[in-house]
Amino acid sequence: MLTRPENTKADAILAFESSCDDTSVAIVDTNYQVIINLLSSQPEHLAFGGVLPELASRLHLKNILLLTQAALQQSGYQLKDISAVAVSVNPGLIGSLIVGLSFAKSLAWSVSLPLITVNHMLAHIFANFIEHKDIQVPMLALVVSGGHTELVHFKSLTEFSIVGKTLDDAAGECFDKAAKLLGLGFPGGPIIDKLAKNGNPNFINFPRALSPKDNFNFSYSGLKTAIRTWISNQAPETITANLPDIAASVQQAIVEPLVNKTVLWAYKNKIPFILLAGGVAANSALRRQMEIKAAKYGIAVRYPSLSLCMDNAAMVAAASIPKYLSGNYSSLSANAFSLKGTKEL
Ligand code: KG4
Ligand code: ZN
Repeated sequence: MLTRPENTKADAILAFESSCDDTSVAIVDTNYQVIINLLSSQPEHLAFGGVLPELASRLHLKNILLLTQAALQQSGYQLKDISAVAVSVNPGLIGSLIVGLSFAKSLAWSVSLPLITVNHMLAHIFANFIEHKDIQVPMLALVVSGGHTELVHFKSLTEFSIVGKTLDDAAGECFDKAAKLLGLGFPGGPIIDKLAKNGNPNFINFPRALSPKDNFNFSYSGLKTAIRTWISNQAPETITANLPDIAASVQQAIVEPLVNKTVLWAYKNKIPFILLAGGVAANSALRRQMEIKAAKYGIAVRYPSLSLCMDNAAMVAAASIPKYLSGNYSSLSANAFSLKGTKEL
């Protein structure tokens, strides 16, 4: 068991994340120092090839108290050492969000702590502040996950606008769909990433939608159709024999527009920092190609370590810090929303 450092001046935030199929509880201080970040995933969904919303809610309900007790016990913190309670309230599966929000509200009320509600996509972006102390605004964040593909411009840590987004499917959805069509399992992103390391990205020339000169939005539904059509026209042996090349070609078609549009917007608008965020920010080709292209224009790229790219409560705590420091607390009647996007609450 750890003991709390005696001379710490920073306040501690207890945070909850339950927007999809991972329950997570963290304690992070207001210097973005992670004290503890525990995660309980839900392998029960694997049998269904995707996340079953009602099952996810029930499992959050089962896990959240146990995980909170474990976080306090393992960190050596007590509730009297905590200064605020943070929780993600949108976007996500509504039943799952309600479990986390109800638990956070009850806890905050019972020990008279302020409650801070957080947007889950903003939390993905703020995961970067945990490990990178040099990030400065203005900055441009590319948020790419299973349900989102957004370019978010930050003038300050609390003033931001969406300057590009997908018109249809998300980048992560495209990775997952391609893996499913290839019979590779779920979630597809990490599997395609691994296979693609030994593949030729020019093996199949899949379409790249909405070239940068048109606009800064993204589109992946055409690519999904092109992948499905290509696969259905091949003999099963051809697919099996060329899996790394197919994976590399799919990955390149997803990653290339993300890199080109992000760097071009940052360059045109004189933005010195690009942040990658969300599950797809774990993709090795996206990280590498973004760094190489941005470096040509003198733009720095930062991304979280692999575990902080995935859903976790430390990022929720991190996103609550600017709100905590400015006293921007939420009411105990706050609600959860399944609304998509990086919307301010
Ligand atoms: O942010 P996240 O954990 O959950 C959502 O909020 O959606 O993102 C999950 C998505 C999935 O689509 C998954 O396939 C993708 O992130 N992903 C990856 C990689 N690791 C996870 N996509 C590409 N390459 C990866 N290495
Ligand atoms: Zn997420």
